[in-house]
Amino acid sequence: MEHRLKIVIKEESIKKRVKEIASQINRDYSDKNPLIICILKGGFIFCADLVRELTIPHSIDFVKLSSYGLEKISKGTVKVLSDLSFSPQNRHVLIVEDIIDTGITLSAYIEDLKKMGVESVDVCVLIDKLERREVDIPIKYRGFTVEKGFLVGYGMDCGERYRNLKGIYEFEGD
Ligand code: IMP
Ligand code: MG
Repeated sequence: MEHRLKIVIKEESIKKRVKEIASQINRDYSDKNPLIICILKGGFIFCADLVRELTIPHSIDFVKLSSYGLEKISKGTVKVLSDLSFSPQNRHVLIVEDIIDTGITLSAYIEDLKKMGVESVDVCVLIDKLERREVDIPIKYRGFTVEKGFLVGYGMDCGERYRNLKGIYEFEGD
């Protein structure tokens, strides 16, 4: 099926915001050697751009979580499909995620990280989508806030399509 896409956030705005967030992280984590955990798959482009603006020591790891399948509806359970390669114990963890919708996926994962004995855990999300939030998530760094809508591009997909788009779009007429 072909979708008609409408631009929501332009490439240039994303670039500018990513630099601003990175400079805050550089300041806040200068002596903390944070462990950046990129949530796959959606977080991969945001995380790649963000870490290239970091000037502080840090490590990067990846976790693949599932709560959505290929559908638009959250099932409310988090499953680790592919796990970290380092232990996050005693680390200052910064989770990098594409978008928070209901908040269910991330809140469950944050609880898991706390059980693993992290020193701190905070969230950096590109898009804070408000309308369907069910669980309150403390967000330390947010790129943009949107009220609602299903977004694609800059890592976000619909049925695995559109992750490669440089801007962020929504479907027209949906
Ligand atoms: P949550 O548990 O409802 O917050 O779902 C979070 C995950 O669902 C995100 O990390 C995305 O991978 C996916 N998701 C939520 N909203 C969108 C969207 O508008 N476009 C693409 N993926 C989305
Ligand atoms: Mg995601």
